[in-house]
Amino acid sequence: MRQAGRYLPEYRALRAGAGSFLELCYTPALAYEITLQPIRRFGMDAAILFSDILVVADALGCPVAFVEGSGPKLEPVRSAAAVARLRAGGVSAHLAPVYDAVARISQDLPAETALIGFAGAPWTVAAYMVEGEGAKEFYAARAFARQDSATFARLIELLTEATIEHLRGQIAAGADVLQLFDSWAGILPEREFVRWCQEPAARIVQALKAEYPSVPVIAFPRGAGLHYRSFVAAVPLDGLSLDTAVPVARARRDFPGLCLQGNLDPVALLTGGPGARREAEEIVRSLAAGPFIFNLGHGVLPDTDPEEVAALVAHVRSLPLPAAGDTGA
Ligand code: CP3
Repeated sequence: MRQAGRYLPEYRALRAGAGSFLELCYTPALAYEITLQPIRRFGMDAAILFSDILVVADALGCPVAFVEGSGPKLEPVRSAAAVARLRAGGVSAHLAPVYDAVARISQDLPAETALIGFAGAPWTVAAYMVEGEGAKEFYAARAFARQDSATFARLIELLTEATIEHLRGQIAAGADVLQLFDSWAGILPEREFVRWCQEPAARIVQALKAEYPSVPVIAFPRGAGLHYRSFVAAVPLDGLSLDTAVPVARARRDFPGLCLQGNLDPVALLTGGPGARREAEEIVRSLAAGPFIFNLGHGVLPDTDPEEVAALVAHVRSLPLPAAGDTGA
């Protein structure tokens, strides 16, 4: 999940000095610095590249702007002509500064700290491209996908290819692990989930595995709920990132050998104190009957006190790992 960002004063300082959020993403020295900020402070086991899922939309020729206080704004893509105007293939030239940042980070990170590269999954990036901004339900994107599914399928196809290219670029530059963020997977009914989330994820992970079989891929189909089983069966993933709504003991039982990541509520970390640490402990107890990565169920909230993050990291590190087979459930 996002571990850099506005809750860190050192991030706010760099952000204030830059012209725009995208300038941070496209300036390797700044992306390098922001990626390392949480690692220097808290010493997590993995760093996640500082970038954004929407750089792929930008690279395809759908310009993105991040407006202070109101999130991303894009030129809405809502017709066959608009999809046809997008650049087919070749996003990696535009995204070269991102790979430059990955190379610099991977060179300087301590050997024991993994570098996670990432991309947005096609559905989530397409949802922003069609909607033109963030939304709670993405009705315009969902309506477009139904009204002109051939054009929407073309957009998903372009994004699938671009995502493979972008993730390949990050591996080649030194990313150790990849995460595919499908933040809006949970708003789709079953048929649409399979077509727009599950099938593209399967294609992306298969393509990467064919070339880089040893690079682990974590998927985050946020809100997938009852679709998790079919998603895990269809996508050859190495890790499944769980959102805050998933009962972890249940997920552990459903996927005994799979590496599960998650899923402390970012609001628990925001309110902090012993309550947050107790919840973290319950998560670790449930997940530790198999391979797991302790994490939040979504990104760190801007009002979070960095001291709470430090206390959480220290607490999780201090926990004894239960013997295999003890699910704590
Ligand atoms: O540690 C890290 O910071 C990792 C880098 C990272 C960012 N975005 C930086 C960022 C990652 C992994 C993302 C992923 C991302 N971006 C997702 C998927 C994960 C999720 O959170 O669901 C999505 C949906 C986006 C799109 C996006 N980017 C939105 C909707 C926003 C605005 C929301 C907000 O908090 O203002 C962003 C901006 C953004 N991306 C920020 C950061 C640190 C905040 C920018 C700022 O105000 O300075």
